[in-house]
Amino acid sequence: MHKIKPFTPPKNYERASKKADSILKRLTLKEKIELIGGHNYFYIKGYEKHNIPQLYLSDATQGVHIRRDLPDPLEKSTAFPAPICLSSTWNTKLARDYAKSIGEECRAGDIAVLLGPGMNIYRISQCGRNFEYFGEDPCLASRMIENYVLGIQSTGTIATLKHFVCNNTDHHRRTSNSIVDERTLHEIYLSAFKAGIDAGAMAVMTSYNKLNGEWCGQNEYVIKHILRKELGFKWLVMTDWWSVYDPVKVIKSGQDLEMPGVGMDKLEYLGDVYVKSNASKLLKEKKISKDDINRMAKDILRTEIAMGLFGRKVKDKKYLKSYSKHEKIALQTAREGIVLLKNKNKILPIKKSSHKNILLTGNYINTVAKGGGSAEVEGYNIVTMREAMKKEFGGKIDFIENPADEQVKKAGIVILSIGTDDSEGWDRPFELPREVEQKIIRYTKLNSHVIVVVNSGSGIKMTDWSNKAAAIIYSWYPGQNGNKALAEIISGKVNPSGKLPITIEKEFKDSPGYPYIPGGEKFYANWEDDADLNHPVSDIEYKEGVFVGYRWYESKNIEPLFHFGFGLSYTTFKYSNLIISKKSFKRGDKLRVEFMIKNSGNVAGSEVAQLYVHDVEASVPRPIKELKSFKKIFLKPGESKKVIMVLNEIDLAFWDSIKHNWYAEPGEFYVMIGASSNDIRLFEKINLSA
Ligand code: BGC
Repeated sequence: MHKIKPFTPPKNYERASKKADSILKRLTLKEKIELIGGHNYFYIKGYEKHNIPQLYLSDATQGVHIRRDLPDPLEKSTAFPAPICLSSTWNTKLARDYAKSIGEECRAGDIAVLLGPGMNIYRISQCGRNFEYFGEDPCLASRMIENYVLGIQSTGTIATLKHFVCNNTDHHRRTSNSIVDERTLHEIYLSAFKAGIDAGAMAVMTSYNKLNGEWCGQNEYVIKHILRKELGFKWLVMTDWWSVYDPVKVIKSGQDLEMPGVGMDKLEYLGDVYVKSNASKLLKEKKISKDDINRMAKDILRTEIAMGLFGRKVKDKKYLKSYSKHEKIALQTAREGIVLLKNKNKILPIKKSSHKNILLTGNYINTVAKGGGSAEVEGYNIVTMREAMKKEFGGKIDFIENPADEQVKKAGIVILSIGTDDSEGWDRPFELPREVEQKIIRYTKLNSHVIVVVNSGSGIKMTDWSNKAAAIIYSWYPGQNGNKALAEIISGKVNPSGKLPITIEKEFKDSPGYPYIPGGEKFYANWEDDADLNHPVSDIEYKEGVFVGYRWYESKNIEPLFHFGFGLSYTTFKYSNLIISKKSFKRGDKLRVEFMIKNSGNVAGSEVAQLYVHDVEASVPRPIKELKSFKKIFLKPGESKKVIMVLNEIDLAFWDSIKHNWYAEPGEFYVMIGASSNDIRLFEKINLSA
């Protein structure tokens, strides 16, 4: 088990509970009902006469989404690279710094609760919100999330783990029912939430979808049983915006706060305010009790009090001075998160001294690609690809929007920008539009030096042209200044070190979630379809079980296009001397795993070393590899470093649905050290005794 020092709130649970009790005594029933029903889209109601502050909640994981229609908006906020890019850095310290910066901007903008981090597991490449999340692997997501939580809450801003749980598609997310078994839920979908809770996160947002037949926001199994009892979460639980329908179930489920407290103005049929408008009537009918209302109000107040939000102002202008530091962290995230997927004949880096002229063309040259919806962040001091490349390469760059064949042919190197505009509210095809695919293929036929830069929030189909392109750079949504990092990687000023937090399949039909969209249905990209509650509820059966991402492709022997954990560097790394403290160990023992990494190339660079385990014989089907630890190490040319990782019994365990607990079966296991899930450099067998 992995241990970090959790966040401790300024006031502990007991003291905060006592104070909440004393405040509750002063509130009328009506006031309590108003408190648990959300307020004015993005607030928890306050009462001046009781010294209860009104608190502002705002999105999201990649920076502060400014809502200019709300009073006194923040003037600007830093647009960080998308969380999936942060995850590609595999740099936990960076996750903490990134989140701390966002927390500071929350403080500058009077935001008490950040509606993030989003952390749903990447199950299908088509999910429109993958960019907001941390990829396909529970271990990687967990380590990033716990640091995210520590970073944000160190600023006094509450982190909200969302969307609980199994909201892994945005195609009719309001009418989808995720059908997931207990083992899968625990091994794949709960881990990152658990890590966030263990790190001390003080809020959780339930999701739009049903889990096994009940809406998560009013689902007793989800909230009372799993979240509260099993994961031990004791702070604030809120619904996603307009996601619950039965006030009795909401109130009895362990839920605390129905957001947003007002109906939706444009789509009136969506979003009644069920708790607020029904609580008094339900009390009279004895369907709920005053204790229920008190419990919810107390959970809200306790969380606010514990975080110290009573008696201190959220808004603090001193944080406006930290913005230049935030820009640096955003830039560093892009430098470490952009992934070099292909580099034929070492076409990259393009040295400034190279005499080749570069033709820059494609979709995202004059605008910065970014994800849409509540997570969207405008940013400031925006650096476009065109500006960044110009700065790096000066006169060697030609920008041509629609180059003629002759121009493509004549260019020394072509840099072609392509990508997708992913958004909350809908999914999008894995395939690029035909004309874009054809363009890439045409260019690669005309010129053998085409470097394709992909801006996207998740995997896309590259199968028909990946072998024709000279290089592929996965630049995700790089944030306001990430194009500078891209240009630095292209010129070699920065050595790429990002590794994929996802597997990119060859064809969508290869992937575990296929086919999750009911037959005959089409993609849509509008808010009306997103809000269509008349759409029949569709069951999404997670039939692949725990075999998500690389766990799936490996066990099914399906070769993907790019493997989980893969990313190229301009240098090479050698792994050696694996030593495991005990070959045979007992329950409760810790295993120390150490090995050496050497930078065996000519430039400085960082390597992400990954530790996977494999259970040789198990009573349940288990993946061929499961990531259990990783470290990112910086090495100068020729330099070697010792890497140490620790394994515990739970790292060898699976979720036993009979015992309803983790269980490590005695027997043999492989411990494997790799540069990616498909590039194992060292391994050893160990034995767990009964
Ligand atoms: C999203 C949440 C978000 C909320 C408030 C919902 O549509 O699913 O992630 O926090 O809106 O903006």
